[in-house]
Amino acid sequence: MTVPKLALTENTDAAVGKTRADVVVIGTLQGEDGLELAAGAEVADAAFDGKLAEVLGTLGATGKAEEIVKLPTLGKLPAGVVLAVGLGKRKDGAITPEQVRRAAGAAARALNGTERAFVTLSAVDLHAATEGIALGAYVFTEYRSEKGDGPLAKADLVSPAEGTAREHKATLKAAGFIAESVIIARDLINTPPNDLFPASFADRAKKLADANGLEFEVLDEKILKRKGFGGILGVGGGSSRPPRLLRVSWKPAKARKKVALVGKGITFDSGGISLKPAANMDHMTSDMSGAAAVLASVVLAAKLKYPLEVTAHIPLAENLPSGTSYRPGDVLTMYGGKTVEVLNTDAEGRLVLADAIVRAAEENPDYLIETATLTGAQVVALGNRISGVMGSDEFRDRVAGIMQATGEGGWAMPLPDELRGDLDSRLADIANVTGQRWAGMLVAGVFLREFVPADLPWVHLDVAGPAFNSGGPWGYTGKGGTGIPVRTIAAVLADIADQG
Ligand code: BES
Ligand code: MN
Ligand code: ZN
Repeated sequence: MTVPKLALTENTDAAVGKTRADVVVIGTLQGEDGLELAAGAEVADAAFDGKLAEVLGTLGATGKAEEIVKLPTLGKLPAGVVLAVGLGKRKDGAITPEQVRRAAGAAARALNGTERAFVTLSAVDLHAATEGIALGAYVFTEYRSEKGDGPLAKADLVSPAEGTAREHKATLKAAGFIAESVIIARDLINTPPNDLFPASFADRAKKLADANGLEFEVLDEKILKRKGFGGILGVGGGSSRPPRLLRVSWKPAKARKKVALVGKGITFDSGGISLKPAANMDHMTSDMSGAAAVLASVVLAAKLKYPLEVTAHIPLAENLPSGTSYRPGDVLTMYGGKTVEVLNTDAEGRLVLADAIVRAAEENPDYLIETATLTGAQVVALGNRISGVMGSDEFRDRVAGIMQATGEGGWAMPLPDELRGDLDSRLADIANVTGQRWAGMLVAGVFLREFVPADLPWVHLDVAGPAFNSGGPWGYTGKGGTGIPVRTIAAVLADIADQG
């Protein structure tokens, strides 16, 4: 699916008329003394003789986050409707980008079926408003025979007072690319597992790579066998649709650093022989969210021409029970030679990731960013909106800070050394699970650490909850795939390009 057509416009009465907008979107705030209008609302306010806040108050508007109030303009403005969306309260005297992003997203969702909107929220924060509109407008109707009204088709965003026209153009373009990449990830996640399996994921990745000037390589099951990728082959062995390992690279002429990305690509996770319960098993269509995110992130690195070499390593497998499945009790020899005793075939993500991590590390990257829908324990510990951020101390803290700042939400978590002993195996180098239930998210991280070179700055993002929204829509997040952590990876890459 695509983003609405995005354009910059001036914030004038004449501009509203010229754009032939159907709706003018303004922001409202919960101020100290009640409802306030956000920057950008001046034109609409003037049309209502400076009484727009009063009129909205009469309609019950308070300015609370994501509140939507629509009112007809009755000819006072060229657009027929004003849509007021709440930003909530100022935080420390200011409106945060995430407040703008969520308000813009809520407005875009409410504009489903509208052709064209004149968005003034962008006067507060153009970048955040653009992302919010583009992501909030997203719908996935690929599998519906009736497509319905369709999302908002066009958004005209007013420029903020600060900055030059050139800067605004660049901001709009970058925010549009970021939203497009999040949507690439969402589309992949939302595609059902009968259509998205290792080989078809690889085909789609190849098309994206070709369209964006990326290097592309795919290893099929025969090559995986020859090269000894025991983790990927073990997990993928139960499915009639064999596993793959992808390598997708953005290599600019002058790269300042080399960043490896690794994302878990289980196109469906039934648990295998250690079968999952039936309830909500369908959510495991999203167990390739990490793979989708890292693929979308290299595409983005190319579109934004980051001065970094960025390579995504994507292990793809379907975890199913069958006569050819791997079993609890099997010992796998992983890529690079370490052996793993499989005590639970449902702890499969760490097995495919370990192979991909070892391969990624062979290329001596400066950083490794790895992400996965890895553990139910992440959801228990941090819920559906905050991802677990683990890895090498310094890089972990840097990424956790960035993840909070993007609004995707992430919190630093430790990898306690003492958990390693719980993974000791009766016969192999390590077991894939412990004999107890506590600290499941950290245990998975401790397992992965065994495969990461000690001197490589590494971060592990467990996005099990946040990658897929099984509840109702909120802000710029609809039901289904969220695209987390694409925006975090983008921001970390930008930070590395900037700071090293
Ligand atoms: N894909 C699941 C984790 C998951 C759970 C993702 C809920 C999204 C929502 C993973 O492969 C898994 O099954 N993990 C097991 C590990 C356990 C066997 C140690 C889990 O969390 O139960
Ligand atoms: Mn599993
Ligand atoms: Zn899984």
